[in-house]
Amino acid sequence: MKIVIASDYGGVTIRKEIISLLKELKMDYIDLGCDCSTSVDYPDYAFPAAKKVADGEADRGILICGTGIGMSIAANKIQGVRCALVHDTFSAKATREHNDTNMLAMGERVIGPGLARDIVKVWLEASFDNGSRHETRINKINEFENNQLLHG
Ligand code: RB5
Repeated sequence: MKIVIASDYGGVTIRKEIISLLKELKMDYIDLGCDCSTSVDYPDYAFPAAKKVADGEADRGILICGTGIGMSIAANKIQGVRCALVHDTFSAKATREHNDTNMLAMGERVIGPGLARDIVKVWLEASFDNGSRHETRINKINEFENNQLLHG
């Protein structure tokens, strides 16, 4: 599984922590930065990362900003991306099993690096509940998204 990871200046510490976790897990990853301590705009990092997931260049994506909110809003604008803002391990598991999320967003001003590692581990390991009522719901979202793009 290949992971794309990105943060704005508010998420650099947790991004580095997650990169060391991905190395420990011997997972392939693409790091899109930022390596900055001054203000940058989170959409400039969320969009390229989300496009890599949508285009299949990466299987999953992880985004970190101060709250995780801006990153998740931006990522969810890209067709095919289902990005969840998660700050607990219960939701990390549920959002894979129920929502088949392909991106995860977290906020460095909300949680610490230890919890972020646990969330990522759980999220990477959990699988979508294929063939369940959840699949019907994801299909409805995909259908809506495709129709909106075709007909506005
Ligand atoms: C940056 O100041 C902050 O707004 C950003 O990291 C994020 O929390 C936005 O949602």
